[in-house]
Amino acid sequence: MSNTNETQIQLTYVQKCSDLLPSIYSGRRPTYHIQNEGCQMNSLQTESVAAMMEKIGYEKIDSEEADAVIYNTCTVRENANQKIYGHLGHLKSIKRKNPDMKIILFGCMMQEQHVVDTIRKSYPFVNLVFGTHNIHKFPELFFRTLTSDSQIIDIWKESDEIVEGLPTSRKYSFKTGVNVMFGCNNFCSYCIVPYVRGREKSREPQAIIDEIKSLAADGVTEVMLLGQNVNSYGKTLEHPVSFAQLLTQIEQIEGLKRIRFMTSHPKDLSDELIEVMAKSQKVCHHLHLPLQSGSSSILKKMNRRYDKEKYLGLVDKIRTAIPDISLTTDIIVGFPGETEEDFQETLDVVSKANYDTAFTFIYSKRTGTPAASMPDQVPEEVVKERFSRLLALVQENGRKASSRFTGTVKEILVEEESKEQGMLTGRTEHNLLVHFEGDKSLIGQYVNVSLDTCKGFYYFGHLV
Ligand code: 5AD
Ligand code: SF4
Repeated sequence: MSNTNETQIQLTYVQKCSDLLPSIYSGRRPTYHIQNEGCQMNSLQTESVAAMMEKIGYEKIDSEEADAVIYNTCTVRENANQKIYGHLGHLKSIKRKNPDMKIILFGCMMQEQHVVDTIRKSYPFVNLVFGTHNIHKFPELFFRTLTSDSQIIDIWKESDEIVEGLPTSRKYSFKTGVNVMFGCNNFCSYCIVPYVRGREKSREPQAIIDEIKSLAADGVTEVMLLGQNVNSYGKTLEHPVSFAQLLTQIEQIEGLKRIRFMTSHPKDLSDELIEVMAKSQKVCHHLHLPLQSGSSSILKKMNRRYDKEKYLGLVDKIRTAIPDISLTTDIIVGFPGETEEDFQETLDVVSKANYDTAFTFIYSKRTGTPAASMPDQVPEEVVKERFSRLLALVQENGRKASSRFTGTVKEILVEEESKEQGMLTGRTEHNLLVHFEGDKSLIGQYVNVSLDTCKGFYYFGHLV
């Protein structure tokens, strides 16, 4: 269900907040600072809240000494939570000097009851706390924050509503992420996402297409379609549509040159999708296919619903259909009960799958997930030692896999100036970074670059 009425209501709150600013700040333009933790879906929501703050009349600054400080939080691993508590300690001392400063926390971490209890008890100077299901209510919540001194906490357990058409902004003028779905139904046993992001909800295909058409008309040529599990896109819509069908429709949008997507769950990756990717002129030959573990028995305990053989079979099928595909993955080390033999199976898949990049994580116990109460939690020293062995292999394989394009000419979307003077940075369709000499007027353009030397995970090249 989508709701444009709600958008109208919130836009009136934007105006109401705006009207309050001159009296609160005596005519000067107030400032805000916003920080994002976590995944690309969080980044999109951060951009949306930032756009609403700008519409209200705040100016963005890069320092926490602002009139409003906003954090979009992540809770996928414990260290993300610790980071937020660390920031709050720092903000407390800033707020002592500026008592009118508004501190706002939202996002995944706020969906956990114990976090909200802690904030209520130990961080009374936080002004506003909301979660993942009511971000569209931000203007209304912010209005209450501006007009009240008490701590406002508004966490929704779940929502079946998708609110379309809220203000948003983007970091690059020429590329952006687009949400296609929210939430996750998979309940991998280590993962907190289904509890904090709720059940899977897909956006209507027409809403997605309309958004991308207007982005393309505004100069966007590359989109990244985002969802926790894009391969199950559309299953719960009134008129079900597959993700492959959605891609086929998006491909027809004029002006769009590149389509990326993430994340794919191996259990749902269809032959139809592989075929669409292979035939498409616009869908990039890059697939992020989280492995998590190479051991079939650990995968079972993780509730991943595939085993080592099925995963490797899928990799073979993809490589046969799309020989130049770049594969990337996520791997967790130290899941409860992981033995050295299980870990060897993970190393074996890494050697066979030939990933360009693998994101490696140390297992983090998340309260409330089934894995948190599983026996045989692996001792920290053992996990750390396995982690460094895995990292070494991933890096060695990544270097080999990434260097396969050395000496070829590839089309690059130029993204920004590189740290080195006179150099630009861009990406190939395989998502490989390339640095080369060029003028910054090329930013946002597609240029042909010869990939001269591979430096592991990036190339040095020259314009041709
Ligand atoms: N511990 C460590 N890594 C995790 N991930 C998700 N939950 C956990 C956890 N409890 C990783 C998975 C996922 C990525 C986004 O984060 O690898 O694919
Ligand atoms: Fe978490 Fe698994 Fe859902 Fe990914 S698919 S968000 S790892 S539960």
